[in-house]
Amino acid sequence: MALIRLDRYISERTEYTRSQIKQLASKGRISVNGAAVRKCDLKIDDGQAEVIVDGNPVKSQKFRYILLNKPAGYVSSTDSSDGPSVLELVPPELRTKGLFPAGRLDKDSTGALLITDDGELAHRILSPRSHVPKIYIVKLAKSYQSKYVDLFRSGIVLNDGYVCMPARVRAFENSDKLAFVEISEGKFHQVKRMFNSVGNCVEKLMRISVGGVILPEKLAVGQCMELLHKDLTLIHN
Ligand code: URA
Repeated sequence: MALIRLDRYISERTEYTRSQIKQLASKGRISVNGAAVRKCDLKIDDGQAEVIVDGNPVKSQKFRYILLNKPAGYVSSTDSSDGPSVLELVPPELRTKGLFPAGRLDKDSTGALLITDDGELAHRILSPRSHVPKIYIVKLAKSYQSKYVDLFRSGIVLNDGYVCMPARVRAFENSDKLAFVEISEGKFHQVKRMFNSVGNCVEKLMRISVGGVILPEKLAVGQCMELLHKDLTLIHN
């Protein structure tokens, strides 16, 4: 049984701040398993407790959401036939049945990758028609050109004739071979193919954000952190 402080449990699942929770508790407006609770440091059972704030049940987290800072060399798949699966990097305490990578970072790509057992969320991210925004830093083989801004905005045509949705691209100030790219669809090798279409080539690709979830600087390569359902509202809605 995993225990968690009542105020932390509520603040992680609702918009209430710790001080608001303290006030509500002092007025008897929070109950756990049917009994009013006035002490916010009470430890409750994370998976079982029924918490009600002002008459509204607080949802327990049904699914697991993990953000991995993917290293190069791992495949974004549950199957390890083309190399070690990113699932091998999930620490035992975060592992649950049915986890899979909700996104397709290439084997040589790095950065933000969501791993979840929430099929609906994964579908939203993986669907080619999904409009979940994703931001990448790319290292280019040749110098960045200012004309890319308009080309990306008006829809790059890929080598198979597919016209990409408008995308944003911006150069780094201190390097002529680094750029930020934001796309909101997820075709196979999309960013690499977009740069190929403008006569350049992506040498390195790192995703720094997916669906508004930003890869924290403190999350080292190969490390995972657990996210909350509310961290993913941009994807859920
Ligand atoms: N686009 C690519 O080309 N590769 C990735 O890994 C992600 C987006």
